[in-house]
Amino acid sequence: MAQEYGTKVLILFHSDNGGTYELAKEVAKGIENDKKVRAVIKQVKASTNPKLKDVPIASVEELATYDGIAFGSPVYFGNISTAMIEFIAKTIDLWSKHALEGKPATVFMSAGSGAGKELALQAFWNTLAVHGMVLVSNGISGYENIDKNIPQGNSVLGTTSLASLKSVERPSKSERYLAELQGKNFAKVAFALGGTKSSEPIKSSNIVENTTDINQVLKQKNIILPALPKAVGNYELFVRSGNLVFINQVALKDGKIFNPGKVGIDVTEEQVKEATKVTMLNIIAILKEATGGDLNRVKRCVQLIGTFNTNDTYTNHAALMNAASDLTVEIFGEKGKHTRNTSGAYSLPVGSSVGIQAIFEIE
Ligand SMILES: Cc1cc2nc3c(=O)[nH]c(=O)nc-3n(C[C@H](O)[C@H](O)[C@H](O)COP(=O)(O)O)c2cc1C
Repeated sequence: MAQEYGTKVLILFHSDNGGTYELAKEVAKGIENDKKVRAVIKQVKASTNPKLKDVPIASVEELATYDGIAFGSPVYFGNISTAMIEFIAKTIDLWSKHALEGKPATVFMSAGSGAGKELALQAFWNTLAVHGMVLVSNGISGYENIDKNIPQGNSVLGTTSLASLKSVERPSKSERYLAELQGKNFAKVAFALGGTKSSEPIKSSNIVENTTDINQVLKQKNIILPALPKAVGNYELFVRSGNLVFINQVALKDGKIFNPGKVGIDVTEEQVKEATKVTMLNIIAILKEATGGDLNRVKRCVQLIGTFNTNDTYTNHAALMNAASDLTVEIFGEKGKHTRNTSGAYSLPVGSSVGIQAIFEIE
């Protein structure tokens, strides 16, 4: 028999305008209704939509760690959306390892008029059946309670919303109700089939898991990333080669060099440490750009190289560089741990007291 606590379900969605995300939140509410199953909402790719930009991004590998997955996407031409299809296409390794076999799945979609909505839901089902997932339908659950005076996105295969039918705000009350009900039903199945991993009770309704969300870490620690510095020569702010991102910066702040000069002569070690932090924040702001706006896509910091403006007898470079290393670990945790090299130089560009070269691995 499944244990009472520890069942964890992923709500994996793609959304352009936020309609699918609205349904995802209702499904999550339903899943967490009886406090036995925890819902984690993630999207398949980063979005610049203000409603979506802070929602964490799922990795393909993590799918196998959940006790069930609720999939959500917009309807595109009677089919699953392109971004969701692209994400699912990357699950070939999981498929060949049978990693999702026997796990419950359910689907929900946001449509415009609803044209082809059941074809799209069916397309989802076909794909997930190939993974051997246990498909959880809605049947006619909840039908008796919905407002039948306006068109609704109910379907036996999964809830949809008819977003372009604006007689009422969409998702309509009834569509939200059906999505929540879908979550409740799905939780029952996920709980029955899984949930033997942990005896930790679920503390609260944490619909968007934020323990490893870098945006939340930045918020909690009150770390504000600066605006992107401008390239002042014939070079790029970053270059991505494969999964590695290369970034080089000096201590630019608000268009000027912060605490410039030679350590021990023009500036104190403390001032250079502050400049080092400023430099690292610039790097992380650029890194955010390199990840398409989502620092959760950072897999690890590989290496930092710090060069300090010193005279030829200076030896305390490591203590200065810790300002950058500590900040990186503070933000990225274990993923922030890196190899490092430090050295001194007789002069640095525009009088900066520090320059940092950084290499990160991203998804
Ligand atoms: C390329 C494309 C194809 C679409 N095809 C359909 C369709 O076949 N049927 C439909 O009802 N809506 C269709 N739509 C509308 C979307 O499904 C609708 O706007 C949906 O609510 C978007 O969800 P979102 O708010 O989560 O981004 C299409 C939209 C796009 C961009």
